[in-house]
Amino acid sequence: MKKIYQQIWKLAKPYYQKGRPMDIDHIEWMMKDALLVSEKERLDDTLLLPLVILHDVGYAEVPKDNPYNLDLRKAHMKAGKKIAKDILEKVDYPKEKIEQISYYVSVHDNWALGDNKIYKKDIILGTFTDLDFTWMTTKKGFPALMKILKKNKKEMIEYLKNNEKLSLRPFVTKTTEELFQKYLQARKKAL
Ligand SMILES: [Fe+2]
Ligand SMILES: [Fe+2]
Repeated sequence: MKKIYQQIWKLAKPYYQKGRPMDIDHIEWMMKDALLVSEKERLDDTLLLPLVILHDVGYAEVPKDNPYNLDLRKAHMKAGKKIAKDILEKVDYPKEKIEQISYYVSVHDNWALGDNKIYKKDIILGTFTDLDFTWMTTKKGFPALMKILKKNKKEMIEYLKNNEKLSLRPFVTKTTEELFQKYLQARKKAL
């Protein structure tokens, strides 16, 4: 992984330590798969990787509650935008990219507010949301979300298989779709 991404992660980590307990695992998994998707789909990793690393830093500064609470969602994006900007400035990231990435952070969960269009218009945001969703099918993400959503394994698989994400925000690349299917199969096998 590029040194600059490791530097960003180092500065972001203390925020995640103050945020949701699962988020260190969440981001570490996501960095790895985001790089893989970037390579395969020839995406601009200089935007995708910082977005992935920084997207949920805002949970450090909002009350600890169910992350599905809408006010909390809005608040973590707003707080995250500012923290992301601060961190990227600290590592001297290109100015126009700081603007773009902190904007992405400020809207990354807008689907929860009913906006699905932004993900179709922008391949970086689309790939990001594909990965963020796919986290729920991974070895560590699956049990973490079972707990938050209060579902057993079988219910969790049904929830993922029939999730409205799949029709409202279809996977934007073949690679992210295949990743999701691969992880889901693995979870089914472990039933
Ligand atoms: Fe988020
Ligand atoms: Fe996330």
